[in-house]
Amino acid sequence: MKLIGISGSLRRASFNTALLRYAAGLLPEGVELDVQTLHGIPLYDGDIETSAGIPASVETLKNLIINADGLILCTPEYNNSIPGVFKNAIDWLSRPPARISPVFNGKPVAILGATPGQYGTMLGQNAWLPVLRAVGAKPWYGGRLMVAKAEASFGASGAITDEALKRQLSQFVHGFVEFIRPPSGK
Ligand code: FNR
Repeated sequence: MKLIGISGSLRRASFNTALLRYAAGLLPEGVELDVQTLHGIPLYDGDIETSAGIPASVETLKNLIINADGLILCTPEYNNSIPGVFKNAIDWLSRPPARISPVFNGKPVAILGATPGQYGTMLGQNAWLPVLRAVGAKPWYGGRLMVAKAEASFGASGAITDEALKRQLSQFVHGFVEFIRPPSGK
């Protein structure tokens, strides 16, 4: 099984990117997680789309999603919502409408997020739900992971130091894998 995880932060020291990178090492055997960031995705511009088509960086990310069995969105929260860079990327990925189906239609999607704030990206995560409905994705509601006060859970190198968070993250990704491919008998 192949998963793709997209971090919605461009920061080198991003908690969200670090969370995804750590998750990549917690997966069941036979499951891979390709961690991607949004570097190189331009601002959506309908004139560029009309004159030059979909940018190569967007096509590349689109193909990675098409070829993945599930998508993990690791979202920061900005002003109680989705960071603009992340929403912008989904907007590009949803173009043109005629080609949206293989990218998002029925695609299992898990949402998690980390913040130094105290509410763990709860509102940012909620803000994703109407977007996922608009693109026809299949959100997983079976697990929630909201990492609050993130600086207390990550060491200077960016790796997770909090054992409880490691366990929660492991449960989260294992739960998502089961959602995509239920064990036989379930
Ligand atoms: C933030 N941050 C933030 N945090 C939060 O919990 N709720 C919020 O509404 C906001 N709003 C917000 C707006 C803007 C413009 C910025 C730049 C930041 C703080 C944010 O969670 C923090 O910068 C995280 O470290 C971002 O995630 P990464 O980059 O560490 O992955």
